[in-house]
Amino acid sequence: MTALTPPTLMPTYARQPVAFVRGEGVWLYDTDGKRYLDTTAGIAVCGLGHAHAGVAKAIAEQASTLVHTSNLFQVPLQQQLADKLCAVSGMNSAFFGNSGAEANEAAIKLARLYGHKKGITLPTIIVMENSFHGRTMATLTATGNAKVQEGFGPLVQGFERVPFDDIAAIEAVAARNPNIVAILVEPIQGESGVRMAKNGFGYLKALRDICDQHDWLLMLDEIQTGNGRTGRYFAYQHAGILPDVLTTAKGLGNGFPIGATLVAGKATELFSPGKHGTTYGGTPLGCAAALATMDGLLAGAVDNAAIMGQRIRDGFIRELGDLGVTVEGAGLMLGVVLPKPCTELVAIARDAGVLLIVSAENRIRLLPPLVITAAEADELVTRISAMVREFLAPAAATNEASA
Ligand SMILES: Cc1ncc(COP(=O)(O)O)c(C=O)c1O
Repeated sequence: MTALTPPTLMPTYARQPVAFVRGEGVWLYDTDGKRYLDTTAGIAVCGLGHAHAGVAKAIAEQASTLVHTSNLFQVPLQQQLADKLCAVSGMNSAFFGNSGAEANEAAIKLARLYGHKKGITLPTIIVMENSFHGRTMATLTATGNAKVQEGFGPLVQGFERVPFDDIAAIEAVAARNPNIVAILVEPIQGESGVRMAKNGFGYLKALRDICDQHDWLLMLDEIQTGNGRTGRYFAYQHAGILPDVLTTAKGLGNGFPIGATLVAGKATELFSPGKHGTTYGGTPLGCAAALATMDGLLAGAVDNAAIMGQRIRDGFIRELGDLGVTVEGAGLMLGVVLPKPCTELVAIARDAGVLLIVSAENRIRLLPPLVITAAEADELVTRISAMVREFLAPAAATNEASA
């Protein structure tokens, strides 16, 4: 097994000593044939699970028909995907790129156009502490994590940061900064460990109201929360609101790289020819993958995420509640919060055949495929709970086992 990054790859990731050769649903198989229960889904990407038959067929058929032309021409599959995303989301129109960061770059550009249209020459976007929006210069500036920004100054102008879940802080900015044009926010903060506002999705309604009051754009980064992850197709649908700008990626292509920026209301018609573009955005191949993914998600995976999410959440509280473990999040985007740092659990679980992400030192970030079955969900809870119990209270776990 090759454990280290070879010198020909830039060491941007501290990679784990395992490589996978095959997947099926919630399971991955490594080079030695060992099977792993995957609670990461490629970091909230493979909602339909690994090697989904419908997506594989769509990609194979489209790849042998037409991969790419360009946005110089009509791309009927792109139109179909835009129609489908708009129908599901309630938004008006879509721009396609290839990643989450690109989707957010388009959103940031839209906010600036919106500001200039109103005569604001230094348009400024309110962003949150502990947020994550990507690794390009503008999106890493928007990101509320000093480690992501360290070494990359000068950062991009035009952002004001406030604590997440703090409407009063936004009102204070509104009172002193006439250049604000938009709020960019994740409905649930993902990379920082699945953090949800105290009143859940009610926070989004409060943000919608404050944006309406000040004529700002509400820009929701649903790159991680979108495509069924929280048990609705988009997380804002829990709040009964509509954003002005919506970004999504990750789960949209089930692993095929594709992202989208959607607009509604006052953000509609800000882009005109020449204002934005990308060579690869919305290729026939990418759109075929995303259309097949959306079909699968809408055919039951989104509803399953809501049901299995509740089952897993209840399971952890039942199994670990006595040890002070709590669960945050919605659907199958769950943060299992431990009373102490637990990064060691990643390796312990991997050795035992379970793939986990630990964020913010003490949060197990569960993002399993949305197609997880009840039996698999129960297995996930049982296996992870046993590891966590042993980790938090080794003596008690041993005594119980021998009693
Ligand atoms: C909320 C959010 N926004 C943006 C991104 C960046 O997406 P990408 O890595 O596809 O550029 C991520 C990725 O983790 C994310 O979770």
